[in-house]
Amino acid sequence: MTEKVALVTGAANGIGKATAKRLARDGIAIGVLDLLEDGAAAVAGEIEQSGGKAIALAADVSDRESVQAALARLRDAFGPVTIVVNNAGITGFVPFLELTDEDWDRMLAVNLKSAFIVTQEIIPDMIAAGWGRIVNISSSSAQSGAVKMAHYSSSKGGMIALTRTLAQEFGEHNITCNAVPPRFVHNTAMSNESFEREDMKERFQAMVDAGPIRRHGEPEDIAGAVAWLVSDEAGYVTGQVIGVNGGRYI
Ligand SMILES: NC(=O)c1ccc[n+]([C@@H]2O[C@H](COP(=O)([O-])OP(=O)(O)OC[C@H]3O[C@@H](n4cnc5c(N)ncnc54)[C@H](O)[C@@H]3O)[C@@H](O)[C@H]2O)c1
Repeated sequence: MTEKVALVTGAANGIGKATAKRLARDGIAIGVLDLLEDGAAAVAGEIEQSGGKAIALAADVSDRESVQAALARLRDAFGPVTIVVNNAGITGFVPFLELTDEDWDRMLAVNLKSAFIVTQEIIPDMIAAGWGRIVNISSSSAQSGAVKMAHYSSSKGGMIALTRTLAQEFGEHNITCNAVPPRFVHNTAMSNESFEREDMKERFQAMVDAGPIRRHGEPEDIAGAVAWLVSDEAGYVTGQVIGVNGGRYI
């Protein structure tokens, strides 16, 4: 079997890190992309120590030239890229009336324009291979809305619309595109930062108590779903929004 090559963005921490490690365990060579060079190198090192293949790629997903340079390194190392997990993201809590143009533009650039850039740069490899898998990490806030997160939830809603559109535009090339919108996933840099906020602790505990499965998500919960979506088995699944959220939507 020809070895598959995946780019996982935001892979120095949390969900991206767990996903990079999970896909590597399935025999996929991984481009571990992150703004954080040391973090990406550490994850690539962990994968190699476990017998997998990985290369650390320091890049900014909102910057096309930076993405192009990273992809050139990944292709040099392992060949054409036919799997992408658009996971890199930032969050923020700002009341709607206080949001600035800069807040909005930065959020949309990192969380949504990034997926446009990264995916557009990779799809030609997928078309040439006649096979491809795109997974976009959205957020349940795109489905439920989230107070003080208009910029964040809007960027994540865009990920769902982009997912459904790419599924239709590239399905004829045997390329699938699906979205995973997590709810609250524990033990990530992003969620640890939020969890520390005094005004959020009660809300997070209430979310656990209200959910059918009474625990927070772990990064590995998301990674497992992504691993299935990028597998050959999931070839007839496209344009879908797969909630990995313990049954919680609100
Ligand atoms: N943790 C949650 O509860 C949760 C819930 C819903 C959605 N999500 C989404 O899941 C994804 C991963 O979240 P996480 O909790 O693992 O976050 P995290 O902060 O642990 O990891 C995100 C990674 O993205 C990287 N990154 C940020 N901006 C970047 C850029 N411009 N270029 C390259 N890399 C960049 C960060 O350095 C970091 O390593 C995000 O898109 C997030 O919005 C997370």
